[in-house]
Amino acid sequence: MEWSKLELTGAEFRDLVNAAMERVARWVDTLDRQPASDVKDAEPRARSLVEERLPRQGSPLDELLELLFDRAVPLSLNTAGPGYLAYIPGGGLLHAAVGDLIADAVNRYVGVWIAAPGMVQLESNVVRWFCEIAGYPEGSGGFLTSGGSLANFTAIVAARFARLGDRLEGGTIYASDQTHSSIPKAARLAGFPADSVKLIPSDETFRIRLDLLEQQIAADRRAGKEPFLLVGNAGTTNTGAVDDLQALADLAEREGLWFHVDAAYGGFFNLTERGRAVLRGIERSDSVVLDPHKTLFFPYGTGSLLVRDRTKLEEAHALSADYLPEMRRAPDLVDFCQLSPELSRPPRGLRVWLALKLCGIEAFARALDEKLDLAQWAAAQLREIEGIEIVAEPQLSTLAFRLTRPGMDTPELNRLNRRFLELINERRRVYLTGTMLGDRFVLRICVVSFRTHLDRMEQALEDIRAAVSELAGAGD
Ligand SMILES: Cc1ncc(COP(=O)(O)O)c(C=O)c1O
Repeated sequence: MEWSKLELTGAEFRDLVNAAMERVARWVDTLDRQPASDVKDAEPRARSLVEERLPRQGSPLDELLELLFDRAVPLSLNTAGPGYLAYIPGGGLLHAAVGDLIADAVNRYVGVWIAAPGMVQLESNVVRWFCEIAGYPEGSGGFLTSGGSLANFTAIVAARFARLGDRLEGGTIYASDQTHSSIPKAARLAGFPADSVKLIPSDETFRIRLDLLEQQIAADRRAGKEPFLLVGNAGTTNTGAVDDLQALADLAEREGLWFHVDAAYGGFFNLTERGRAVLRGIERSDSVVLDPHKTLFFPYGTGSLLVRDRTKLEEAHALSADYLPEMRRAPDLVDFCQLSPELSRPPRGLRVWLALKLCGIEAFARALDEKLDLAQWAAAQLREIEGIEIVAEPQLSTLAFRLTRPGMDTPELNRLNRRFLELINERRRVYLTGTMLGDRFVLRICVVSFRTHLDRMEQALEDIRAAVSELAGAGD
C-alpha cells in the first residue's frame, strides 16, 4: 500500500489505521510480559536513532512500525505496564487513544466556542464533571491543560490577578517543603522572585506544619510583605501526603489568602469513600489541579485546572483581538481562550469524554479503591520484613520505605538503599523510584496504574524480599 500521498481517502485511512493497529494490538497483548524497564545501554541505542536525516521521500509503513515498536518504544521505562510503580503513573487508557484518533482526524478548532460549539460543549461537560468530583459549586469552571505543571502555573497567575491585580512586588506564596517543584517553578515563570515562595517545614507524616505556617505569615506581614496565596497538597509526589485541607481552608479564610490545592495526584480519590475522608476541605479551595493523566489513568497530556469562581479565570485571561470572533457572554457557553493561556489547542476533552462515557465513572472509582487496598497490602507485607522501616505510611496509594541496619550512619544507609533499589529494578518485573526525605534516601511504591493488580504487587514484594536477602548475603 502507498501511504506517501498527503490526501488519503476514508478507505485508505482505515487501511493505514488497521496496519498500525496490528502492531499496537500485539504490543497491548504482551504488556504484562514486557520488562518493567529497558534502559540498559540507553545512550548508544538512542544515538543510533540520531542517524536519521530529513526524509526527502516517503518510506514503507512496515519499516517505520518496525523502527517504532522494535527500537524506539521498548527503549524506556514501561510507563504503561502493570509493574510501573514509580513517580506517579497513569497507564494510559486505550479508550482515550481512540478519542485522540477521532479528534485528530476531524481536527476541529476548540480555542473559541463559535468554531466548534459541539466539541467545545463536550469538553465543557468534562470540566463540569470534574468540578462535581472536586465538590465545587455552581459558578465554578476551568479547562483541560497539558498537565499539572501548566495547571499550577495558571492557578498562580489567576490567584495573583484576583488578590494583587497587576502588582507582583511583596506578593508571597506559602506551601510545604513537600510541595511539587512545579509550584516554585510556576511562581518563577509568573514573575515572582525565588524568596517570595515560602516552603514551610512538614511534620513526621509529611503534612505542612500549621504552627510554623502561621508564624511565617505573621512575620512576613510585619516585614511589609503581602501574603496572597496558600498552596495545599492533596497527595505529595514524595509520599502521597495530604495536608490538613480543612485547617488550611480556615487559615486562608482568616488571612484573606487564595487557597489553591495541588491535587494533581490525590484529587480523583475523591471518587472513593476513603479518599473523601482524607481530602475533606478540598471543596473549600479557590482553585484545584486534578490530573487525569495520573489518577484517572489517561495518557500523558491530560491535566486540568478548576476554579471555584470561573470569572476569576476570565479576569486573568480574557483579551480581545480584531481578528477573533465575538466571545460568549452566557455562563454555560465557554470560549476556552478566555479562560486559559492557549488559543489554538488540541481538543483534549474528547479523549476524556469518550472514556468516561464508555466506562462510566464508577469503573474509575472501583479501580481507585483497589489501588488504596494494594498500597495498604504492600505496607502490611513490608512491615513483616526484618530490617524494613516504613518511613511514610500510605495516606492514599503511595508509601515510602527503606532498609535499616543497626550501627550504620545516614550516608551508609543511603548507599545501601540506593543499591537496594537497583537490585529490585534489575529484576525488571516492577520499576520503583527513590527520593530524599530530609537526609534519608527512601524507596517509593506508588500504585496508580489501572493495570496494576494484586498479582503484580506480589511480584513486587517477592523482588523486594529477594533484594533484602541478597544484601544480607553480601554482608552489605
Ligand atoms: C503533586 C504533583 N503536582 C504537580 C505535578 C506536575 O504535573 P505534570 O507532570 O503533569 O506537569 C506532579 C507530577 O508528578 C505532581 O505529582
